[in-house]
Amino acid sequence: MESSKPTQIVKGVVEAAVEKVGDALTPDVPGAPGSAPPPLKEPTTPHGPLPPKDEQGAPDTRTPTGAETGVPKIAKGQQGAYLTTANGARLRDTDHSLKAGPRGPVLLQDHHLREKITHFDHERIPERVVHARGAGAHGTFVAYGTAEEVTRAGFLKKGRETPVFVRFSTVLGSRGSADTVRDTRGFATKFYTDEGTFDLVANNIPVFFIQDAIKFPDVIHAGKPHPDREIPQAQSAHDTFWDFVSLHTEAQHHTMWNMSDRGIPRSYRTMEGFGVHTFRMVDEAGATVLVKFHWKPKLGVHSLTWEEAQLIGGIDPDYHRRDLYDAIEAGAFPEWELGIQVFPDTPEETFAGIDLLDPTKIVPEELAPVQPIGKLTLNKTPRNFFAETEQVAFHVGHLPPGIDVTNDPLLQGRLFSYVDTQLTRLGGPNFTQIPINRPHADVNDMLRDGFHQHAVHAGVAPYRPNSLDGGNPFPAGDREHAFVDTPVTVAEAPKVRAAPASFDDHYSQVRLFWQSMSPVEKEHIIRAYTFELGKCYHQAIKDRQLQCLANVDPVLCEQVAIGLGLPVPQPTVPFADVQPSPALSQVGREWPADGRMVGIVVDAQGDMNDVHEVRRAVFAAGMVPLLIAAHGGTVDGLPVQRTFATGRSVEFDAVLLAGAPAPAPDALPARDAKAGAAGSSTVDPRVLLLVEEAWRHAKVIGAWGAGAEVLNQAGVTGTPGVVTGGSGAEVLTEVQRLMAAHRVWERFPASVA
Ligand code: HEM
Repeated sequence: MESSKPTQIVKGVVEAAVEKVGDALTPDVPGAPGSAPPPLKEPTTPHGPLPPKDEQGAPDTRTPTGAETGVPKIAKGQQGAYLTTANGARLRDTDHSLKAGPRGPVLLQDHHLREKITHFDHERIPERVVHARGAGAHGTFVAYGTAEEVTRAGFLKKGRETPVFVRFSTVLGSRGSADTVRDTRGFATKFYTDEGTFDLVANNIPVFFIQDAIKFPDVIHAGKPHPDREIPQAQSAHDTFWDFVSLHTEAQHHTMWNMSDRGIPRSYRTMEGFGVHTFRMVDEAGATVLVKFHWKPKLGVHSLTWEEAQLIGGIDPDYHRRDLYDAIEAGAFPEWELGIQVFPDTPEETFAGIDLLDPTKIVPEELAPVQPIGKLTLNKTPRNFFAETEQVAFHVGHLPPGIDVTNDPLLQGRLFSYVDTQLTRLGGPNFTQIPINRPHADVNDMLRDGFHQHAVHAGVAPYRPNSLDGGNPFPAGDREHAFVDTPVTVAEAPKVRAAPASFDDHYSQVRLFWQSMSPVEKEHIIRAYTFELGKCYHQAIKDRQLQCLANVDPVLCEQVAIGLGLPVPQPTVPFADVQPSPALSQVGREWPADGRMVGIVVDAQGDMNDVHEVRRAVFAAGMVPLLIAAHGGTVDGLPVQRTFATGRSVEFDAVLLAGAPAPAPDALPARDAKAGAAGSSTVDPRVLLLVEEAWRHAKVIGAWGAGAEVLNQAGVTGTPGVVTGGSGAEVLTEVQRLMAAHRVWERFPASVA
């Protein structure tokens, strides 16, 4: 999907407004900042703001009360050619404060200085107490109509298209933490439906740590950095975390998912999403079913290896954010299908013996298939990160008519928590009026005033009943599609602080998950537990967690114990007899390779003929080619996006070798050897490192022509997933076929069956 867009869109504006320079670089490279190539000299001819980049979206232009304004979405955040104060007075100078003489004290009178600094002082808002690190994107959701028979929700009617904003996140880290840490990922979607906003505030793991929201501060306090030194950042590999989860054993199921490959996703585009809780759907006649929501990524569920995650954390801490935005900019729009598992709404609220109100339990897909009900496509990046991604406010209670909550005690607490935290985070009660949060349905509430009130409310009677405003607003009935609070029967019972007895089973589904993994996935889980517990200081905590693993599976426990050098405890609960769920494994299927990154190593001195064709073919296959060469700039007219010094294998899903470049002038054998690059007098050591790493991480590698020599020197010729051929096109065809499996799994030795 080659895009000629950056040049096209901005050309006219740039030519009219910006002083041109000779050969401004205008690569068709996703991620290049700004909508126009910058001139060499500072522009001095006044002109209006440049347009946003083509791939950038923005919130709809709505009034604070949800009405369409008719103002086109392309409206700019800033107007006019001149710098002004916040009140629009044009400014002569923003480089010097107003002083009593050039050496004199600064004058209190300098409103511009004080406005500029005061505003700056308040530029940060408190970051989210959890899920602080995230990335958002705009898109659309199109309903298949398959949910019509179970819900009256209008946005799920066949063919209905609804604008959405999605924010992905990690849970534990601060706003500036790395993307590829081992953690749960948030997957929160705001559907701007015309019956009110629906927020599906989901995670990439279908179960949660705790069964009752009252434990949320506990689990988060345990997972966040230690309060004395404020370390470690964005990690669960520390004593307080394992202290809590080994004592509060209902956390063991979620923790096993965290220790699996799900804890280190390849990208946001390759994650599943889960509503976790059971929700209730209500049809036109008031009949109800219970449902669980699932997001299924079109590209499949894929993960990084642990070593890749570590390397990327240093080399490109913004990896997931960049991947999302580059994919959208390249036109490889990420897609998911929304699906539901449907269960009869019985008084017991169970299915196949599984308590549907227990958020630490899944219902295996083999027992209740996920039925697709619509498709999500993310097609616009935010124009302003702060205004959109940072200020978006999700809430599990934002529900349209036709979807309702259940009594899941975790969900019940969440209903309180989100609005409460947003009052502080967003500086008052009017955050639904922030552009990204504005509903696309008519708003006629009786909420008034408060910090940052944007709506200029008319009328005198924000109360009901009233006659002074003619009785408006009026309550709506069924005909007007009012929200239905399902009249669920609440059993007569004493008030207690307790959970149902069915919530006491903390191990059977952990075992189910473990038994559903392939050998290589089991191997990864063992390594993850060993690493995390190995980082704990306290022996008692390691012993206690090993006891939990003993209750899951003897092989798992034994392998981790060997890694820790500790004795293997005996189980204290009988093993549950569980049926594996193949749907939980990420291995063994094939997926489209859209948006995958293909590194192409070129030798500027070698044969470049095939490279043009291969690069075009990679684009045409919906993937992103990145040329890697000895130096930046261009080679044979093609943009070089990584040099041997900046390119590292972890960025690529596959590596192609179009040549065997000799050591570049900046190659230092001694230093590169320290970084792991093998010595060679004929091939640049960093190219060998690239190939060795890509091989170790089970990525497909292809070579033609002189490129085959690199494979020989790296010692990988003829091994699984290493493709050679007479031409670039021939090699690419086979590489692409192999990439469908995500990795060359047979290269991973597994120590367990
Ligand atoms: C099934 C369990 C849960 C899931 C799937 C979940 C998911 C999420 C997600 C995706 C976000 C990030 C929203 C964003 O991108 O802005 C978030 C934020 C948050 N969650 Fe949860 N969460 C869960 C449980 C809880 C519980 C039990 C509580 C509290 C009792 C809680 C409190 C919060 C808070 C306070 C935020 C920050 C919201 C903000 O500042 O706007 N969560 N959660």
